Amino acid sequence: MCYNCSLFFNRLTFKQHRLNIEKVKRMRHFINLNDIKIKELHRILDLSASIKNELKSGVMPPYLAGKMLAMIFEKLSLRTRVSFETGMFQLGGSAMYLGSETGGIGKRESVKDFSEVLSSMVDVIMFRAMKHRSVTDFAKYSSCPVINGLTDLSHPCQALADVLTIREVFGEFKKLKLAWVGDANNVAVSLVQAVAKLGMKVSIAAPAGFQFRDKNLRGLGREIDPAFEIELTDSPAKAVRDAHVVVTDVWVSMGQEDETEHRKQVFAQYQVNEKLMKKAHKDAIFMHCLPARRGLEVTDEVMDSEQSKIVQEAENRLHVQKGLLVWLLNEANR
Ligand code: CP
Ligand code: NVA
Repeated sequence: MCYNCSLFFNRLTFKQHRLNIEKVKRMRHFINLNDIKIKELHRILDLSASIKNELKSGVMPPYLAGKMLAMIFEKLSLRTRVSFETGMFQLGGSAMYLGSETGGIGKRESVKDFSEVLSSMVDVIMFRAMKHRSVTDFAKYSSCPVINGLTDLSHPCQALADVLTIREVFGEFKKLKLAWVGDANNVAVSLVQAVAKLGMKVSIAAPAGFQFRDKNLRGLGREIDPAFEIELTDSPAKAVRDAHVVVTDVWVSMGQEDETEHRKQVFAQYQVNEKLMKKAHKDAIFMHCLPARRGLEVTDEVMDSEQSKIVQEAENRLHVQKGLLVWLLNEANR
């Protein structure tokens, strides 16, 4: 190649490199509920509901034809894996499971190399990680959107399914109260961020040391109401008073197995049972992200009651995953 031609190609490669850096910087991900605006949350819910209606009437438009989703799992999963994989299939694309056989991000190769290589080959990545930091570090280098499929700090995909379920049952958010009973964990953080954006009242009953931390309260609900306040209490009865939605989750999350015995003692008074549900609003529903430890954080009677929306909530994981994927790929990053 002549000297001038090589200069020209070097400049072209440099320009391409700059463009890629800009693309990575501008990329919209879905890592926390606080990363999206209220309008965007409503848009994802509307898309999810409309895609759900289409599916129920036997229509599956290929909104993501030819697109590939890579799913990295550092923890176990039923709902998240199946909803994303089925969702991509129904949208005309494909999904690929990456478990421990990849050698682990940051172990066999650096986070940067893993992220740059994987995102150069696929269109979107879902990452369920032990540590939240792994997802944010990974996203820094990704040239395609990254979705948080659960970390130790948050579970925004679950929150989408939960608020879609609340909307389906009550048709609105304002005037409703949500009570969280138990560990103010990753699922609680995302759910509360979502319902606060949508104008619901919130009360959280958790024992000392397992309550919401200050950093989780910062800016919460302010977009919709500067005076938004969340009630933090150690009394399940107080939290569920007048609540339309009662939610709990396991006392021992994945990665906390060493604390099992201690947590069982600390949370013993935080079980959601019929007696507690009777103290809630007469139309109250019960929700749980699942998997549940029946007989610990919730009784069989509540799980299997008329008030329980756990199956509708789990099914909605499928519909919101599809709404989210279509929003991220066809709207937010167009
Ligand atoms: N709720 C939820 O995320 O379930 P899985 O752990 O089975 O994915
Ligand atoms: N809080 C639980 C949720 C599982 C979907 C966990 O992190 O294990």
